[in-house]
Amino acid sequence: MTPEDFRKAGHALIDWIADYRQRIAELPVRAQVEPGEVRAALPAAPPAEADQFSALLADLDRVIVPGVTQVQHPMHFGWFPANASLASVLGDIASSGMGTLGISWESCPSLTELEEVMCDWMRQLTGLSDAWHGTIHDTASTACVTAMILARERASRLSKNGAGLQAVAAPLTVYSTAQAHSSIAKAVQLAGFGNDNLRFIEEDPYTRAMQPQALALAIEQDLAAGHIPAAIVCSVGATGTTAMDPVEAIATIASRHGIWLHVDAAMAGSAMLLPECRHLWQGVEQADSLAWNPHKWMGTILDTALFYVRDVPFLERVMSTNPAYLRSAADGQVTQYRDWGIPLGRRFRALKLWFHLRLDGIEAILARLRRDLENARWFAEQVAAAPDWEVLAPVPLQTVCIRHVPKDALGKPLAGEALDKHTLGWLGRINTSGAAFMSPTVLDGRWVVRVSIGVEDTTREHVERLWELLQLAAGQD
Ligand SMILES: Cc1ncc(COP(=O)(O)O)c(C=O)c1O
Repeated sequence: MTPEDFRKAGHALIDWIADYRQRIAELPVRAQVEPGEVRAALPAAPPAEADQFSALLADLDRVIVPGVTQVQHPMHFGWFPANASLASVLGDIASSGMGTLGISWESCPSLTELEEVMCDWMRQLTGLSDAWHGTIHDTASTACVTAMILARERASRLSKNGAGLQAVAAPLTVYSTAQAHSSIAKAVQLAGFGNDNLRFIEEDPYTRAMQPQALALAIEQDLAAGHIPAAIVCSVGATGTTAMDPVEAIATIASRHGIWLHVDAAMAGSAMLLPECRHLWQGVEQADSLAWNPHKWMGTILDTALFYVRDVPFLERVMSTNPAYLRSAADGQVTQYRDWGIPLGRRFRALKLWFHLRLDGIEAILARLRRDLENARWFAEQVAAAPDWEVLAPVPLQTVCIRHVPKDALGKPLAGEALDKHTLGWLGRINTSGAAFMSPTVLDGRWVVRVSIGVEDTTREHVERLWELLQLAAGQD
């Protein structure tokens, strides 16, 4: 494709994206395809000849769009928001269009230095001190794997430089709660600790936050057994109910024992742009590493996961490689992000943040976050006040966990499996209809529905419509 062909096709594609975003509210929220349907609509073998751009665009509409669950849809209340602001989409296009290669400062100084500046802007915007230094990973999952490797290497005194964990005499242990995102357990496994050495610490039965006394006790027991406590993962906004582990109390315990503290604020990091929310991660300055995703609620398109550490020399000692073919005269004066994480080659992700912050402006972003917090409060109040409806967990941010508990034939509140069947029944009816989408989770062994508010286009009117839909669907049993 020549630049001229690209110009023509590119303009058509931008028009297509703009039209798509304009009509998104008319599309069903959940993908309306059966398993295998998209694959079956595609040729089994690759095309022998080049195609027309118009034919490809037509197939985007015909084959691909029906297989997309519309997370940018204003009636999407599932998982967590995965906003993709159009300003950041432009940054993504600029990044792809330049086709840069980030393998060293020399391979693209702008990539490295814009990333440094964006991480620092985001640090300032979330009220963190200048002791933190950041990089942009693809996801919070990768950030957590990196954090767990750092914890492992600190506790095992850089065992990677010798026989690795295989030569460490005692098991290294990690502490979190059952509320922590599944990526935490995965990171613990992948970093070589093993599942047997991951402790799920008791939670408060209502807030689902880690109980610091229970953490202290578990660490004492491990020490008495000759184990080496290596890492604590603190969830600030855990996935199920946005539970907030008490960072400050946990940090005190971590520092008493020299344990690595990683704060996973994948979702709630966006809230820290708001000064009035920062009490939720009070104590964060004492952590060793911290990750959050502007690609969630804040809305800088995937993949934009911020990862901050305080001890950069240690990070580099663990992650650096210095092959001869990558050495340059600038070494020693510049940041080499390949020494800050797992991959060598990196995309020019910082452009997405740069475009987003400059084109949308921080004031508008903050106003939107506050709107969502207000909508969640309003929604939780409606649910709590309605007969037979329950709000099952605190609502520190924009996610509300709810259940409808009607009476059975004998006038008793539905319970057990009958209640689960009812919950999944009304949720399934709404999701299948395409009118709105929510995701379930399990609390105390029973299904509940999470209503996660925060899509860029979701206004109070959409939340009101959702509440009507819920009451209608739940009444249909
Ligand atoms: C609290 C929390 N941590 C980590 C993750 C993983 O995020 P990512 O998809 O960026 O790996 C999620 C995803 O929703 C999450 O909610």
